[in-house]
Amino acid sequence: METYRLNTFDDPELLSAAKEAWEHAHAPYSRFRVGAAVRTDEGKVWTGANIENAVYGLTVCAERVALWRAWMEGARSFTTLVVRSDRDRWTPPCGACRQVMLELAGPDLRVVLVQGEEVRVYRLRELLPLAFDGEQLQ
Ligand code: THU
Repeated sequence: METYRLNTFDDPELLSAAKEAWEHAHAPYSRFRVGAAVRTDEGKVWTGANIENAVYGLTVCAERVALWRAWMEGARSFTTLVVRSDRDRWTPPCGACRQVMLELAGPDLRVVLVQGEEVRVYRLRELLPLAFDGEQLQ
């Protein structure tokens, strides 16, 4: 894990994109709004926000919305994914999102968390050790 400040992180545009995505959250039940932004190795950015449902289990997280949007538009190689909420604590991605990140982006993906002015950068492999992936199905 690496630590930065908001103004020293190398991809400020991606931090802003996740913040803007946050505005699109549909979270009337939890009131916990999340924004995410993912960058491809070609430099493109895709965003997502959590979209809740009155049938609670149908809710999808911001990270999956961003990755699925990107995938459906043809993006195949991802470098960095930022997750942001407006809470005074860290918002780490849930287990389901980590698994989807592994599938679509791989273990080298940089997963970026923000709290206040502090930025933490993890590799997905740190957040999802001993993962079940396609190798297990061979
Ligand atoms: N949520 C996300 O969108 N991403 C996360 O990393 C954690 C949780 C959403 C799902 C749900 O709408 C709300 O936050 C509370 O769990």
